[in-house]
Amino acid sequence: MRLLFVGLLILLFVAEHSCARCDMSTTARVREGNLRQSGVFNWLGVLKVHLHEGTNFKVAVSGIVLIKVKYALVNADDVVRVPKNVLESDSLAVFLAADDTPWSVAPLSYMTHPEYEYSTLNTIAVLELNSDDAQDYPLNPICFPEAMFNTSGFLYLTGYTDENRVLEKVIYKILYLEKKVCEEFYNRAGLSDAKRAPTAYVCGFAPYNGTHCVWDNGMVLVSNATGWFTLVGFGVRGPGCAAPARFIDIFQYLDWIRTATAENVPMYDAIEDYRRDDSHKPFV
Ligand SMILES: *[C@@H]1O[C@H](CO)[C@@H](O)[C@H](O)[C@H]1NC(C)=O
Ligand SMILES: *[C@@H]1O[C@H](CO)[C@@H](O)[C@H](O)[C@H]1NC(C)=O
Ligand SMILES: *[C@@H]1O[C@H](CO)[C@@H](O)[C@H](O)[C@H]1NC(C)=O
Repeated sequence: MRLLFVGLLILLFVAEHSCARCDMSTTARVREGNLRQSGVFNWLGVLKVHLHEGTNFKVAVSGIVLIKVKYALVNADDVVRVPKNVLESDSLAVFLAADDTPWSVAPLSYMTHPEYEYSTLNTIAVLELNSDDAQDYPLNPICFPEAMFNTSGFLYLTGYTDENRVLEKVIYKILYLEKKVCEEFYNRAGLSDAKRAPTAYVCGFAPYNGTHCVWDNGMVLVSNATGWFTLVGFGVRGPGCAAPARFIDIFQYLDWIRTATAENVPMYDAIEDYRRDDSHKPFV
């Protein structure tokens, strides 16, 4: 009787984790550099938008990270530039579902974090994806941190590069820096601009490789300190891979992300509820 009881407890624990369906693979023991069109980290994607300007058209791309079957995070200032009709009809969220196997899904709508209107351009938005219509859904959302933990020894930045004219994944080791190192760097370099500073961020730099590169919006700061890779930060453009860089600190946004992606809350209502709730009060 006792044995059975223990067995059940273990089962429940595992079930609770698999229920979240996040990517707990620990096989992603990756070396730094270009991963080509690898299927590893299949939560890593891009929002691809076809913009028509008169007779010309161009493709705009912004990094996204899949956080739930139907939702991804995207840079707020990038997604608000996409007209609603273009988002619905001329855009795709593209992922590498497996090695050399692109998979795409249409975006439906987005919701920016309320601070976008009041404090900073560099914040997150939640992008809703039309995953309900997808057959054989192949992706695994990234895992979220369940508690604040010391990630400093195991930080990596991953995202896409087009250095070979196709979208390929890259990964760099990141060394953690105190926030004040970032502040001093941005002040000294004349880059401090309150409208561009994330309200909460993790600071770090790529020590080994990156003298000639610049981070893009939507690169993903991850840590494998727990054994598998969890989401720590969301990258914003600049200032150079070897320089102290700011990554939006996802831990500070977990409550809002949970509200914004609650399946039974229409997106518009979620943001109104959030504004009505006095306890947040960051926007004075
Ligand atoms: C994180 O990944 C690196 C690189 O593959 C590996 O050396 C390290 O042991 C991993 N950390 C943990 C806690 O699994
Ligand atoms: C540095 O990055 C370049 C381009 O991503 C890559 O070709 C090279 O192998 C990397 N070097 C190291 C030491 O990781
Ligand atoms: C976190 O880990 C790093 C190295 O792994 C260590 O230097 C640092 O003191 C730790 N920070 C805390 C708050 O424990």
